[in-house]
Amino acid sequence: MSTSQRIEHHVAILGATGSIGTATVQVIEHLSRTDPTASWTLYGISGHHNTDLLTEIANRHRPNRVVVSSLEADEAKAVSDAAFPAGTRVGCGPDELIDLAGDPRVDILVAAIVGRAGLESTLAGVRAGKRVAIANKETLVVAGGLVRRLAAESGAELLPVDSEHAAIFQCLAGGGTPRRIILTASGGPFRDWSLEKMREATIEQALAHPTWQMGKKISIDSATMMNKALEIIEARWLFDCPADQIEVMIHPQSIIHSMVEMIDGSTIAQLSPPDMRLPIQHALTYPHCLPGDTPTLDLSRTACWTLEPVDVERFPAISLGFEVARVGGSAGAVVNAANEQAVGLFLEGRMRFTDIVTACRIALESHNHESNPSSDRLLELDLWARAEVRRWQLRSNAS
Ligand SMILES: NC(=O)c1ccc[n+]([C@@H]2O[C@H](COP(=O)([O-])OP(=O)(O)OC[C@H]3O[C@@H](n4cnc5c(N)ncnc54)[C@H](OP(=O)(O)O)[C@@H]3O)[C@@H](O)[C@H]2O)c1
Repeated sequence: MSTSQRIEHHVAILGATGSIGTATVQVIEHLSRTDPTASWTLYGISGHHNTDLLTEIANRHRPNRVVVSSLEADEAKAVSDAAFPAGTRVGCGPDELIDLAGDPRVDILVAAIVGRAGLESTLAGVRAGKRVAIANKETLVVAGGLVRRLAAESGAELLPVDSEHAAIFQCLAGGGTPRRIILTASGGPFRDWSLEKMREATIEQALAHPTWQMGKKISIDSATMMNKALEIIEARWLFDCPADQIEVMIHPQSIIHSMVEMIDGSTIAQLSPPDMRLPIQHALTYPHCLPGDTPTLDLSRTACWTLEPVDVERFPAISLGFEVARVGGSAGAVVNAANEQAVGLFLEGRMRFTDIVTACRIALESHNHESNPSSDRLLELDLWARAEVRRWQLRSNAS
């Protein structure tokens, strides 16, 4: 194919300075070098606090647009003059994130901001009918029903980046009727710990994930297994799959990224060494499968891959995840906000590890469930749940 026939992809990465964001930059660099059929341009990037890394990426790729979301709109000029390449439009604040997500020149949006902070910009990309590569699972947890409705209206394509959901997506690609989705979970750093031992877990121990290198919030979520709870809810919305057709199995080696059992009894799985560049590339290039830059399985050596059920007594987050996936409505926004607040308190050394999931349970049970909340109401409930967790933590510390 001649250069003039090559398809042009303009990619925007929201959260380019994070673990998924930097892996996405690597994938785009790899595709730019190796894809003979398309050109890959980093059109826009955002970062929050890490302006050093944002500047470094901007100077390497010279994107049209950069957003520094932690700064006020009137601070843009100072940052722009200081560090970014000439010709790059620099914007500040959350409104610029939304504007970049809906920019008509962006055709692929990678939603890689962590937490509920990624909600509005991800929704803007969905509303604008883009291909949205969703790493920001919290958007689906908070507003999965709304995302589905908006995507149906705008024609947006939702491509999962979470390795489990990317695996399920690939398992379903061959057609057939699925009977159940089996999400695998590494079990995190406390897979073999007793509840008593987990009560005393330190921040460093909770952050030390055995198989994945990730941002802090998702690392703590993996240790509590709230990450899997969020993924159950994510799968419910992404695949329109009832909660009782989803299962979770512990697979400590993180090689089988998830499985789908079909109605004829066959089970299809997707396997690879753990490396997020693979699902990211899949989301960017789908439906094409292009040569990757990640390690492959070494099948010349004996391997032992195990699957075991989850102990929900030690990991009560799993039951919470199924419950929220079952009831939908306002439950996702409440549990997600409670979890973000509780993880923040744990990382500040103000909450015990095992209280994170307890706080989420208390917030869920204290709220009056609403089956069809508006997006404004979801944001109110988010604030309420955060305040509820802070109040509970103060009361627990005082008693
Ligand atoms: N890491 C993984 O392997 C993995 C796998 C599957 C799914 N995910 C999901 O991907 C998302 C990102 O995870 P991550 O591990 O990449 O997180 P991370 O390393 O902590 O990166 C988070 C990104 O979001 C930006 N950010 C933080 N707070 C923000 C705010 N209030 N407003 C706007 N931007 C903000 C950060 O900017 P600064 O760094 O500049 O402050 C950074 O670019 C999460 O939803 C996570 O669950 C991650």
